[in-house]
Amino acid sequence: MPTLFTKYHIKSRIVKNRIVYPPMVCFNYAGEDGMVTERNLMHYKQVADGGPGIIITEATAVWKDGRLTPFQLGIWSDDHIPGMKQIATMVKKAGAISLLQIHHAGLITRENVSPIAKGPSADDRNPLSAALSIDEITEICQAFIDGAVRAQKAGYDGVELHGAHGYLLNEFASSYYNKRDDAYGGSLEKNLKLATDIIHGIRKQCGDDFIIGYRLGANTPTLDDGITIAKLLESAGVDLLHVSHGGSLLNLPRSPVGFDYNWIVYSGTIIKTHVTIPVIVVNEIKTPERAGWLIENNLADFVALGKPQLADPNWANHVLKNEEIHVCLNCKPKCRWYEDSRLCPARKLQNT
Ligand SMILES: Cc1cc2nc3c(=O)[nH]c(=O)nc-3n(C[C@H](O)[C@H](O)[C@H](O)COP(=O)(O)O)c2cc1C
Repeated sequence: MPTLFTKYHIKSRIVKNRIVYPPMVCFNYAGEDGMVTERNLMHYKQVADGGPGIIITEATAVWKDGRLTPFQLGIWSDDHIPGMKQIATMVKKAGAISLLQIHHAGLITRENVSPIAKGPSADDRNPLSAALSIDEITEICQAFIDGAVRAQKAGYDGVELHGAHGYLLNEFASSYYNKRDDAYGGSLEKNLKLATDIIHGIRKQCGDDFIIGYRLGANTPTLDDGITIAKLLESAGVDLLHVSHGGSLLNLPRSPVGFDYNWIVYSGTIIKTHVTIPVIVVNEIKTPERAGWLIENNLADFVALGKPQLADPNWANHVLKNEEIHVCLNCKPKCRWYEDSRLCPARKLQNT
């Protein structure tokens, strides 16, 4: 029976355990030009030393005008490579696998980044939004591929395409946002054309041993669609799926009675039964017992714990050594880390 500390092979690599540090933006850490700063480095050193098997560096912009905020890490220029190299090197030194989450915010691009937010189609609720032209889509496709090539040059083991949370790739994949009737919309296959073109391009440029992960919105817009998308992504060459939520709050599946995890984790376990590639599940898993149960029962290949590892960067080491964990205090209405990591009450208690 596998446990949280059973190794796993992906491509030519061995992952030392089943614990993933998911992408977690540290707002205001990066420089305005998307550069890695000392603050980013200190953060990822702490994360890497904490013991997770896979570390996914936070959402990193492939396109300057498609950033979520002006202070988001970037990979749209070769100038970003040296900083990223420092993160990838630290992760490798700690014996973990490094993935860089590559991202375009699409219709969620903020006004202080670009006056018009662009996506597959204009957003009816936002007069400052517009549909991308075919030429622009082709440019963005190339920007994702170039971002992956830069990540590889920086020493990353792979990338994770951000295809969840209502951002650009999620918008294209979902009929909720994508109203196009050209090559990029109209059927699930066409909705996925941008993603599959990116995947094929990365595979061609970065080779067979480069890990291509995909963060998938399970409800895109329904779980049935999410399952079909997962299969299409597997056929396109994705090596690792990370199941989170799609942007819209419609069509939320329900966890069955007796399954003590939320619908996002439940959706991940269902998607796992439809693909042969490894699946990461995430969201409110919280404790080692709950994380271990999913692995032991073969409901997931990896478990990602975000806020728990922000609250206690030594989470994985503590679990391995059977030591006490500093628990996330589950701040409401929103995780305080979003505003300013220094406000995280769990970290304040530890003085870190
Ligand atoms: C402060 C913060 C930053 C986040 N940044 C990202 C991100 O960069 N990319 C992403 O896909 N998800 C991001 N998320 C979502 C997390 O990766 C994760 O899915 C979410 O926190 C649920 O997992 P948890 O309950 O274990 O924290 C972020 C969440 C938080 C709280």
